[in-house]
Amino acid sequence: MKLSNTQLLQHLIFIDNKWVDSASNKFFDVNDPATGEKIISVADGGEADVLKAIEAASAAFEIWKSKTPKERSGLMKKWFTLIIENIDDLALLLTTEQGKPLAEAKGEIQYGASFIEWYAEECRRVYGEVIPSPVNDRRFITIKQPIGVVGAITPWNFPVAMIARKIAPAMAAGCTIVLKPSEFTPLCALALAQLAMDAGIPAGVLNIVPTTDAKAIGKILTTHDAVKKISFTGSTQTGRLLMQQSASTVKKLSLELGGNAPVIIFEDADIDGAVKGTLASKYRNAGQTCVCANRIFLHSSISGEFIEKYTAAVKQLKVGNGTDHQTQIGPLINSKAIEKVEKLMKDALHKGARLVTGGKRNALGELFYEPTIIDNCNSGMQLSNEEIFGPVSAIFQFNSDEEVVEMANNTIYGLAAYFFTSHVNRAWKIAEALEYGMIGINEGIISFAEAPFGGLKQSGYGKEGSFYGIDEYVVTKYLCFGGMS
Ligand code: SIN
Repeated sequence: MKLSNTQLLQHLIFIDNKWVDSASNKFFDVNDPATGEKIISVADGGEADVLKAIEAASAAFEIWKSKTPKERSGLMKKWFTLIIENIDDLALLLTTEQGKPLAEAKGEIQYGASFIEWYAEECRRVYGEVIPSPVNDRRFITIKQPIGVVGAITPWNFPVAMIARKIAPAMAAGCTIVLKPSEFTPLCALALAQLAMDAGIPAGVLNIVPTTDAKAIGKILTTHDAVKKISFTGSTQTGRLLMQQSASTVKKLSLELGGNAPVIIFEDADIDGAVKGTLASKYRNAGQTCVCANRIFLHSSISGEFIEKYTAAVKQLKVGNGTDHQTQIGPLINSKAIEKVEKLMKDALHKGARLVTGGKRNALGELFYEPTIIDNCNSGMQLSNEEIFGPVSAIFQFNSDEEVVEMANNTIYGLAAYFFTSHVNRAWKIAEALEYGMIGINEGIISFAEAPFGGLKQSGYGKEGSFYGIDEYVVTKYLCFGGMS
C-alpha cells in the first residue's frame, strides 16, 4: 500500500496528541482481508494504557469545554478539510484493512467527514430555553453543558464513518473522547487522529487505544467514574453487557445495536425502482451493514417479475479485491464472518429455501462469497432471526398488508425497514405500523449526517447524526432565579 501522506499509516496508541507504545509492549497484526497479507503490527493497548487515556481526556475536558463553540467549530472545520484533502489515501487505507471497494470507501470517507462538517456547524446552535414561570418571583431557564469524558467503542464495518458519527457530536458539544476502534480496522482510526492533531485539535481531546482485549477495555470504560458517557455500535449481546457494567456508575449510554431489516415490495410498487433500492441496501459493503436488507418480502402477485429482474442485476455484480476499480463486492472481514453466512445458508436450504443464484465461496479467495439469492424463506429459518451480514438476499412471500407487517415486526430488532409502494395512504399506514427507528420509503439508502440514525426495541437507543445527535453528549441543567418580585 503506497500512501502519498505517509504520516497517515500509524501503528501506536494515541494519547494526549502523542504516539506511544503500549505499556505491555505487545503488538497485534492487522491483515488485508482480500489477500490475507499482514499490513502492519499495531500496539496492543491494555488496562494501563486506557487509564492513561482517560486521565488525558479528563485533563483536556477542562480546557476544551471552555473554548467557545465558534473556536471548537473552527478547529473541527480544519479537521474536515484535511480529511477531504487526504481522501484518496484514507480510502486506500480503508479498503486495505476492511475490504470494501475503493468507490465505496471514498463514499464512506465523505459520509464520515460530513458528520464533522455538520457538527462543526451545529455546535453553535446548542440552545437552552426560557420556561414561563408559574410564580411571579421566579424565572426558569435551562442551559446545556457537555457531559464530560466519552468512551466510544466502534465496529469494523464502517471504520471511518462510525467513528466520526460519535466523535464529531461529542467534540462539538465540548466533550473529550477515549476511543476503542475494532481490532480488525484500527488504521483508519489512527489516521483520523493524525489529521485531528494536524488540524490543531488540542492534546487529550481525542485519544485512541487499539486493543485485542475488547472485554477488558470495555470494562474499564464502562465502570470508570471519570467516563460520563458510553457510545457503542456493535452487537446486541455486547450492548446488553455494556449496559449492565455501566449501571455501577449510572452512565448515560447510546447504543446502536443489531438489525434485521425487512424490505417489503407491495404489488403497486415500481418494480424497477424496488430492484434498484433493494440491491443498494442489500449489497452495500457486501451486506455487512446493520441497516442492510436482511429479509425481502415480496407480494406473491409480483414475486416472479421482481425475482427475474433482481437476479439479472445480482448476477452482474463484480466480486474482487476492493482495490480493483471494477469491484463491487469485496471480501468479508474474516473467516468467522464467512462461516456464519455458510451456517445460515445451510440451515435455510435444509429447511426448504431454493437457491436462485450464488450460494458458495468465490474462487478468488477464502473470504469472498458469491452474491446470492434464495427464495421460499420462512420464519423458522435462522436467517429470519439473525443478521446475515453477508451478500445473501433471503426472499419471503406475503399476500396482505396485515400479514407482512406482522412478519416484518416479528423480531427483537427495530433498526431500519424499507418498503416500496406507489400509494401515499399505504405509505403512511405501513410507516406507522412498522416498529423500526428508520424507514426507507421507495428508497434503499437512508443514511445522512442531517438525519437521525438509531433504532427501537433491542436495536438500542439514542440518535446519531442530525440535531438530535448532539443531545446525547450534553446535560440539561435547570436554573431557577428567585427573589425577582
Ligand atoms: C451501520 O452498519 O451500522 C451503519 C450503516 C450506515 O450508517 O448507513
